[in-house]
Amino acid sequence: MSKTNQSWGGRFEQPTDEFVKIFGASVFFDKILAPYDIQGSIAHATMLSEVGILTGEEKSQIIAALEIIADEIKAGKFEWSVDLEDVHMNIEARLVEMIGAAGKKLHTGRSRNDQVATDIRLYLLSQINDIDAEIKRLQGSLLDLAEQETGTILPGFTHLQVAQPVSFAHHLLAYFEMLKRDSERLIDCRKRTNSMPLGAAALAGTSYPINRDLTAKLLGFDNICNNSLDAVSDRDFAIEFLGAASIIMMHLSRFSEELILWSSAQFDFIELADGFCTGSSIMPQKKNPDVAELVRGKSGRVYGNLLAMLTIMKSQPLAYNKDNQEDKEPLFDTVETLKACLRVFADMLPTIKVKRDSMHNSAKQGYSTATDLADYLVKKGLPFRDAHEAVGKSVAYAIKEQKDLSELSLQELQKFGANIENDVFAVLTPEGSISARDHCGGTAPRQVKLAIKNARKTLK
Ligand code: ARG
Repeated sequence: MSKTNQSWGGRFEQPTDEFVKIFGASVFFDKILAPYDIQGSIAHATMLSEVGILTGEEKSQIIAALEIIADEIKAGKFEWSVDLEDVHMNIEARLVEMIGAAGKKLHTGRSRNDQVATDIRLYLLSQINDIDAEIKRLQGSLLDLAEQETGTILPGFTHLQVAQPVSFAHHLLAYFEMLKRDSERLIDCRKRTNSMPLGAAALAGTSYPINRDLTAKLLGFDNICNNSLDAVSDRDFAIEFLGAASIIMMHLSRFSEELILWSSAQFDFIELADGFCTGSSIMPQKKNPDVAELVRGKSGRVYGNLLAMLTIMKSQPLAYNKDNQEDKEPLFDTVETLKACLRVFADMLPTIKVKRDSMHNSAKQGYSTATDLADYLVKKGLPFRDAHEAVGKSVAYAIKEQKDLSELSLQELQKFGANIENDVFAVLTPEGSISARDHCGGTAPRQVKLAIKNARKTLK
């Protein structure tokens, strides 16, 4: 038996260095591609027999054996070997071991370069479907919570300073919108992932009379890659996915940050369920929002994966280079991280206890209805800039008196606007403030209910 690699050792005289074998192997992590690799091989063998390169008998032998191998892998009975470098050569070696000569013909008209690029695309197409389903589930959780809280008021912030009151449901719907775009981005990136590299072979195509359209049809690809060099070398579809994933994580991180702030004693807007928090081994009083913090933290690793992949691709000359083997771990890690974060969020949201009174009290503080007073004065005929100035003075006065605007008497308020009347007090409540913003995209409960209804439709 030859001491060199069975798949490519023909021109070598000395065996691969022992550590280089381990250094160069990807089987530790690329074995998760096995189902896609087998799917690709079955389609390839079917096509080869269709164009007369394999006999019907050889094709049947190959497919039957590959199906057994798939079962062996699923059952954990498959023996992975580092000597065989990667998932592709492990499976092929087992195929040859099982059926001999016919197995050796499977690789006709194909290279590991187009094979691995196909595997990754098949993997990602399937993962994007799963991830999108999780996004939709999280969006559903958001709508369920929003439905209960259309009339719940919390202070809206700018610069983390109290700005204007908003409906809590409206706040939640902001995340719904972000996730909607996130889903659109994934689906868009899925379109470009949906092209089949097989047929590109090593880089230049193959001299066999292959039928790429048939293979693509068998694998469910919408398109085939138009250029063989591009097909084996670019991973831009994966980079796009990592970009979309990073944006999702950025959104989840912002949401996490809010949950962390809101559950603190200082805000006291919500309580997270015990099942989604942990205690401290030293401070008995603690209940920490670990889940939200972990999601916030994991955004860092997904951004890192995006940067890793961009850097792996940068400066690579055409076509395939071994650098591309480094595409897998960042991709797989991102998929798993994203799925876990979306899942835990969708599970956690329904368990949140909303402290409506506390939110409402907070919305009444910080002069959150000052804009409403200015708008009131404008409606009474004052130009907005003058109204802004007058209300600014009334706020300064109220701060000195240690009162909210709504606690000033009519006489006190009239010092800042002669035509202020008794109807001003309805305007100065948080309820009056949110109800007044009654247009598409505004926070009035009437609009928020409509928005929830429309949002539900997009989930169907
Ligand atoms: N394990 C390799 C990878 O992930 C498969 C392709 C190897 N191709 C080659 N020409 N060495 O990229």
